[in-house]
Amino acid sequence: MLFTLPLSLLAAVPFVSAAPFCTLAKNSLAPVSSATNTSGSGSSPSDLVASSWYAGWNAADFPPSNISWSKYSSVAYAFALTTPDSSVSLASSDEQLLPQFVSLAHQNNVKAILTIGGWTGSAYFSSSVATAQNRTGFVNAVMQVVSKYDLDGIDFDWEYPNKAGAGCNTMSADDSANFLSMLQELRSQPGGSNITVSAATSITPWAGQDGNLMTDVSGFAKVLDYIEIMNYDVWGSWSTGVGPNSPLNDTCAPAAQQQGFAVSAVKSWSAAGMPASQIVLGVASYGHSFSVASSAAQASGNQSLAAYPAFDKSAQPDGDAWSGDATFVPGTLDQCGNPTTKSGIFDFWGMVDGGFLTSNGSVASGIMSRYDECSQTPYVYNPQTQVMISYDNAESFTAKGQFIESAGLAGFAMWETGGDYQDILLDAITQGVGVQGSDDDC
Ligand SMILES: *[C@@H]1O[C@H](CO)[C@@H](O)[C@H](O)[C@H]1NC(C)=O
Ligand SMILES: *[C@@H]1O[C@H](CO)[C@@H](O)[C@H](O)[C@H]1NC(C)=O
Ligand SMILES: *[C@@H]1O[C@H](CO)[C@@H](O)[C@H](O)[C@H]1NC(C)=O
Ligand SMILES: *[C@@H]1O[C@H](CO)[C@@H](O)[C@H](O)[C@H]1NC(C)=O
Ligand SMILES: *[C@@H]1O[C@H](CO)[C@@H](O)[C@H](O)[C@H]1NC(C)=O
Ligand SMILES: *[C@@H]1O[C@H](CO)[C@@H](O)[C@H](O)[C@H]1NC(C)=O
Ligand SMILES: *[C@@H]1O[C@H](CO)[C@@H](O)[C@H](O)[C@H]1NC(C)=O
Repeated sequence: MLFTLPLSLLAAVPFVSAAPFCTLAKNSLAPVSSATNTSGSGSSPSDLVASSWYAGWNAADFPPSNISWSKYSSVAYAFALTTPDSSVSLASSDEQLLPQFVSLAHQNNVKAILTIGGWTGSAYFSSSVATAQNRTGFVNAVMQVVSKYDLDGIDFDWEYPNKAGAGCNTMSADDSANFLSMLQELRSQPGGSNITVSAATSITPWAGQDGNLMTDVSGFAKVLDYIEIMNYDVWGSWSTGVGPNSPLNDTCAPAAQQQGFAVSAVKSWSAAGMPASQIVLGVASYGHSFSVASSAAQASGNQSLAAYPAFDKSAQPDGDAWSGDATFVPGTLDQCGNPTTKSGIFDFWGMVDGGFLTSNGSVASGIMSRYDECSQTPYVYNPQTQVMISYDNAESFTAKGQFIESAGLAGFAMWETGGDYQDILLDAITQGVGVQGSDDDC
């Protein structure tokens, strides 16, 4: 399953072309070993996890054939859902699309992973793992799906153990302990030890029995290949001001504005016993939009954008076509019966589509911009429509790639595959991981 980055991609990366052999080695994208015993082995660049989540519901616009397979070591199909009877459910549309997805992944020597859960699909994780009997039923259902669809791995996106999540999830104080027991049982199954098993997580460790953050997750490190820290949605429409969707670093921001960021997330997971070499950084190919009055948007006395400006919550701008905001019906309830709002999300392609960015990802004319050196993320503002977006671009993705390399992380996972525009972000983070390495070793 070992493969290297195609020369065509290297040719498109001007920085590294001077040292093709070193860079090729550093850029080798190979799936992580599925061995569960990782003790003593640090991460090596050849193990880089280069991954993204593929949202099946956007397949009409972005079919599996549009995935840049050669640039990934694995792609995770989202989502299969948990069910009241401790099983795993795929919608009929997914059941048709998933085999096509798996087959294309395998043709390209890429691991085909299935993600179970997500924000709306986590409702029955707790009940599915609550008792020995339910765990066995759930594990059997997972293994059946693995075998039926010829999957290379399962990614558990439980949002979140011992938390109500969307609002009506089943939950228990024992969720994290039961989650671990289920993973151990999964690994003990025939065929359970050689698949990739991962978990998408919050920026802090799971909640333990007392509701506080777990201080020891080393048991999880023994049964998971890696976790993906979802370092995004840190700031959004629920926040007090416009802040970074996906901050890399925030130690330089005022204390009140340090809501969590990649550096601290890695630190807290590592401190709890998840080795850096088993941490994948979750990155976002989208941004959040906010309605910001011109007076608040601009820093006083000059033409630059202000940091953390106030915004008008009652005037959430419509996001791009994939957000569904244009057809949003006020009063729509979610599966828990709670009122929903517009998401205001702009995919990176949507920002090009919406005139904020040019087709090479640069800021379009007439749009104001700011690169926050602290969070290492960009902002744009359209003074005409008063829409501000906090997002990621090639520069911020390169910085995240360099952090992955310097912190010895396992790699990256991008939500979502189809959010990028002409691989501007994907190529930048890959280059970020590689460029740093070539500096070290060449
Ligand atoms: C894991 O590998 C280490 C070093 O190779 C070895 O000492 C240890 O016994 C192994 N643990 C298990 C559970 O196989
Ligand atoms: C998907 O691929 C087709 C064929 O290469 C291309 O024309 C189209 O623009 C792509 N769509 C997206 C959303 O990338
Ligand atoms: C175990 O699963 C059954 C359905 O299969 C469910 O009714 C029950 O509530 C679950 N047990 C717990 C403790 O959640
Ligand atoms: C795991 O091993 C089983 C046989 O025990 C095999 O059928 C399956 O293809 C293997 N899966 C992977 C992902 O290697
Ligand atoms: C984060 O910021 C601190 C100082 O505020 C600095 O020491 C550290 O190198 C930064 N880390 C990254 C990855 O930028
Ligand atoms: C603009 O003003 C803000 C706050 O008043 C300041 O932080 C920033 O450095 C200024 N920018 C320039 C280019 O002068
Ligand atoms: C990106 O596009 C803009 C506008 O089309 C152009 O001015 C700029 O030179 C381009 N930048 C690069 C690096 O190609």
